[in-house]
Order: sequence, then structure tokens, then C-alpha cells
Amino acid sequence: MEKFEFTKEELAVIDEIIAKYPNPQPAVMPVLWMAQDKFGHVEPDVQKLVANTLGLPESHVHGVATFYTQYYKERKGKYVLDVCTSFSCQACGAYDTLHYIEDKLGIKAGDTTEDGMFSIQSVECLGACGYAPMMQITNDIYVNHLTKEKIDTVIEDLKKDKLPEFEPIPLVQNREIAQEK
Ligand code: FES
Repeated sequence: MEKFEFTKEELAVIDEIIAKYPNPQPAVMPVLWMAQDKFGHVEPDVQKLVANTLGLPESHVHGVATFYTQYYKERKGKYVLDVCTSFSCQACGAYDTLHYIEDKLGIKAGDTTEDGMFSIQSVECLGACGYAPMMQITNDIYVNHLTKEKIDTVIEDLKKDKLPEFEPIPLVQNREIAQEK
């Protein structure tokens, strides 16, 4: 059975995080991130490690971990495709987008491909509603205005470990200033 532990150095970092707050509860999120960065997921045994390290009940850490889709409660593929299915994206065809990706990869949302390359998640609003439909890749880069062609390109590129280019999202006021110039 795999054993999950923090190193002495990591425990020192965790002590610094805890010291910023009057009690250890607010440290749960950053320490879960540290754990996910290290182990690739926060499975129940990792949640237990975080709870024991912070001296908190496992139920508290579990509650935080399960509230956010960004924390992986089981092992995921190398690339996690978080497809937003909240209202604005839904109105712009998020479910068609999601089903297209599911058909293309031969898995359903919540699953991982057999080769361990891709997982799909249907997630809540990612704050890019004006660029719907959109998805986020492994808690990192956003891919906006999804079309079938764009999805095809992104997936083929990811198979070669090529991440999509960062797409800047100009703020409305900046767009207006740029148009005035
Ligand atoms: S509804 Fe999809 S980003 Fe907000």
C-alpha cells in the first residue's frame, strides 16, 4: 500500500502556512494544494495525511476537498479537461461540447481514458462566461470559444504534450480604450 508522507522541509513550509492564521482551518486549502502537487491527487489517504498534519478532523478536510472540483479525489489522467457546464456556457452549447469530447475520447465525464492521458470533468462556472463555451486544462490554461475544430486541435496537441497557447481575455474597458486609439 502506498504511503503518503510530507518531508521535513514540506512540514516546515506547512508550519509557516499555519502561522499566518489564528487556527489551522484556513491552512487546509493551501496544504491540500501542496499535497496534490506532490502526489497528483488528494485521495482519502492523502486527505487523512493533511488532517493529521494540521490536527483537524478528517471530515473537515474531506468537506473542503469534495467541495472543489479542482482537488482530485481520485487519480486522474495526465490532462484533466474541465468543461464548464454552468449557465452561460450551457446557453452557448456546453453540453454539445462535452458530449463531443466524451465521444472523441470514448469516456464519460468523471472518467479517465485507459491510457491515462485524459480525464473529463463537468465543472461549475470558471469565471470566463463571456468566452463560452470554455474549458480549463488540469487547473491551468483556459481554452475559450470552443468549437469542434478547436477541440480536435487541442486534443491532438495534448497527445504530443503540447499545451494550447494562452488566450488573453481583454477586459471590456481595455477593449474600448484600444478602439478609441
Ligand atoms: S458559465 Fe462557463 S465560465 Fe461561467
